[in-house]
Amino acid sequence: MTGLPTSVPPDDDTVIVPRADAVIVPDADTVIQLVSVDRTFDSEPPVHALRDVNLTVRRGEHLSIVGPSGSGKSTLLNTLGLLDRPTSGAYWLDGVETNTLGDLERTSLRGSRIGFVFQSFHLLPYRTVDENVMLAEAYRRPRPGRGRAGRRARAEEALERVGLAHRFGFRPDRLSGGERQRVAIARALMSEPALLLCDEPTGNLDSENTESVLDLFDQLSQQGMTLVVITHEEAVSKRADRRVRISDGRLTEESR
Ligand SMILES: Nc1ncnc2c1ncn2[C@@H]1O[C@H](COP(=O)(O)OP(=O)(O)OP(=O)(O)O)[C@@H](O)[C@H]1O
Ligand SMILES: [Mg+2]
Repeated sequence: MTGLPTSVPPDDDTVIVPRADAVIVPDADTVIQLVSVDRTFDSEPPVHALRDVNLTVRRGEHLSIVGPSGSGKSTLLNTLGLLDRPTSGAYWLDGVETNTLGDLERTSLRGSRIGFVFQSFHLLPYRTVDENVMLAEAYRRPRPGRGRAGRRARAEEALERVGLAHRFGFRPDRLSGGERQRVAIARALMSEPALLLCDEPTGNLDSENTESVLDLFDQLSQQGMTLVVITHEEAVSKRADRRVRISDGRLTEESR
């Protein structure tokens, strides 16, 4: 955690002037803090994909992002996922100010704090459900206490968490769409992330399977997981605690 800057106790006549950056240091319950974030693409003409975006998301919150095509949703998600950098402004992720980090530090932070969930599940068809979940760790540097030996147990735990303990050993083609997406969510949970970033997670699902994924989101959020979900579907955004709308790169909070 990054704490408030410490200082030497002042003499009696010292006037304490708060440092500008100290004012925005988020507390331990803040997972996302965007401060005046702009993202401009240097195309001809330049595209202002994000304009003065301010957003705070607390631990355990479920936020949905809605907006028309081209409004900046993916740009925002890429920024939150440390796949893109703001042109200006600050992004604090789980207490870490990310703009000053180098590429390797950003990759490492992404791997430890963020799980990604996409519209298509990206499961390997010839691997079993548990193998697919274990593959989350295949390309990751082992962390202390999380060596290869415990990988199967962690995959089983993740599958239990998404309600699929009874599907070990199954191949993805024998599962429903909702079950496949829950396997993808189990895979994302393997790194014990602070944040799940979901881009149209129910875009390929019928209403019944959508419900099963939304029920899982409720459950994860109750367990303290922070969820940010891009969606076009009213039924999906309605289930979030908060909804923000993005329009021409500007974010507005929607009242419920
Ligand atoms: N690499 C890029 N270079 C130039 N312009 C870009 C680039 N990436 C995105 N844009 C532009 O930025 C704006 C926002 O794009 P973005 O992909 O974030 O929209 P979106 O809300 O995700 O749209 P959709 O719902 O269609 O996925 C668009 O005008 C897009 O054309
Ligand atoms: Mg998009």
